[in-house]
Amino acid sequence: SSSQCSLTGKWTNDLGSNMTIGAVNSRGEFAGTYRTAVTSTSNEIKDSPLYGTQNNINKKTQPTFGFTVNWKFSESTTVFTGQCFIDRSGKEVLKTMWLLRSSADDIDDDWKATRVGNNIFTRLRTVKE
Ligand code: BTN
Repeated sequence: SSSQCSLTGKWTNDLGSNMTIGAVNSRGEFAGTYRTAVTSTSNEIKDSPLYGTQNNINKKTQPTFGFTVNWKFSESTTVFTGQCFIDRSGKEVLKTMWLLRSSADDIDDDWKATRVGNNIFTRLRTVKE
């Protein structure tokens, strides 16, 4: 295994949400699917697409990135930004922060429509053997 941190693959976070990220192209662009474990709504959770970019400048081994999730079961949008790290045990980990924008019915409710938080993602391995 190399010491390069790669976004491609399956990840799970501290809330139990899962995401799958496809190949990162030469321009740093990627797409994937997000399955959240939690929701601020009362709607039934559905898989939702994500689109992002990885910073490829200087070919850093622990790149920064950002992606947007376009929720397909609510009117909300989440943006995540973070960095792909190799931790002390050699394990890849994504340290992120997010902004979740909910849809406000009235401009006077704008002030309370954005939540903020952090998530830590580790690789999801399907257990073989
Ligand atoms: C919604 O509730 O309108 C859509 C789902 C939002 C899920 C949020 S995004 C930030 C946090 N991290 C997760 O994995 N899920 C929640």
